[in-house]
Amino acid sequence: MRNFKDKICIVTGAASGIGAACAKALAAEGAYVVMTDVRADMLEITQQEIAAAGGKGESHIVDVSDRDAMFALADQVKQNHGGADLVLNNAGVAHGAPVAEMTMDNFNWVMDIDFWGVVHGTQAFLPHMLERGSGHIANVSSIFGLIGVPSQSAYNAAKYGVLGFTEALRHEMDGKDIGVTCIHPGGINTNIVRHARIAQGPDAEAQREEAIVKFQQLTRTQPDGAARIILKGIRKNKARILIGPDAVLVDIIRRLFPASYLRFLPFLKEVGREEEA
Ligand SMILES: NC(=O)c1ccc[n+]([C@@H]2O[C@H](COP(=O)([O-])OP(=O)(O)OC[C@H]3O[C@@H](n4cnc5c(N)ncnc54)[C@H](O)[C@@H]3O)[C@@H](O)[C@H]2O)c1
Repeated sequence: MRNFKDKICIVTGAASGIGAACAKALAAEGAYVVMTDVRADMLEITQQEIAAAGGKGESHIVDVSDRDAMFALADQVKQNHGGADLVLNNAGVAHGAPVAEMTMDNFNWVMDIDFWGVVHGTQAFLPHMLERGSGHIANVSSIFGLIGVPSQSAYNAAKYGVLGFTEALRHEMDGKDIGVTCIHPGGINTNIVRHARIAQGPDAEAQREEAIVKFQQLTRTQPDGAARIILKGIRKNKARILIGPDAVLVDIIRRLFPASYLRFLPFLKEVGREEEA
C-alpha cells in the first residue's frame, strides 16, 4: 500500500494513544477511517478532531473481544464501502500481576482483548482483501512480545501470541498482494497505564497515579511519532516495525543475550514491579 488516499482503513482502539494518533494520521493522508473503541466519549473526540481537520471517517462502539460484533462490523464495512483496505488491530489493555497471584478473570481480560481481539479483527476483514487480491493487515504486539518481564505474563502471552499469529499469516500471504506487519512499540506516552487493571487495595488509585508518572518518565516516544513510524512501515510493507529507541535496544539485547537479556535491561524489571501496584 503505497499511499492511503481514499483507502478504507479500520483502526481498533482509536479513542486514545497510538490508535487515535494513527486514525488522525491516516485521515490526514486522505484515508476514510473506520474507528472502533469501547470508550464512546474519547472516540467521539477523535472523530471530531478528524472532521475539524477536514478528514473523513466514522466511528463504532465495538469491543474487539466480541467476535460476532467484529464480524458484523466487517459486513457493514463491506456493504457500505466495498471492503477494508487496511486493518490496524491496535486495541489493547495491560495488567500487572505475578503469575502466582493473577486471577483468571484478569488473565482472560488481557487475552480476550490483546490476543483474541487481533485474531477477530484479522479473520473478520481478511476475506475482503482475499476477494479483492489486495490489502494490508497490521497487528500491534509490543517489545513485551519479544521479551518476558516480571508481572507481565498475561500481556507477554498475548503479545507473543500476536507475533506468532501475524508471522504465520505473513507467510500464508506470500505471493499475494496482501501485506502483513507486526508492530512492536517500546514505551509510548499513552493512557495504557491509566487504563490498566491493577490489584485492588486501599492505596490502589494512589499507586496507579504513581505508576502513570513513572511510565511517563520512562517513555521516550509520543503517539504522533509512533503513528508516523507505523504509517511509513506499512507503506514500505515492512514485516516488522520497531517503535522507539528502547524497542531497538531491546531487540538487539535479546538477540545477543537470548536468555539473560533482563540483566541488561534493568529499567524494564522496574516497569514490571511498579505495575504490580
Ligand atoms: N503505550 C505503550 O507503551 C505500548 C507499548 C507496546 C505496545 N502497546 C500496544 O499499543 C496498543 C495501543 O495502546 P496505547 O498505548 O495506545 O493505549 P491506550 O490505552 O491509550 O489506547 C488503547 C485503546 O484501546 C481501547 N480498548 C481497550 N479495550 C478495548 C476493547 N475491548 N475493544 C476496543 N477497544 C478497546 C481503549 O479504550 C483505548 O482507547 C495496545 O495494543 C498496546 O498493548 C503500547
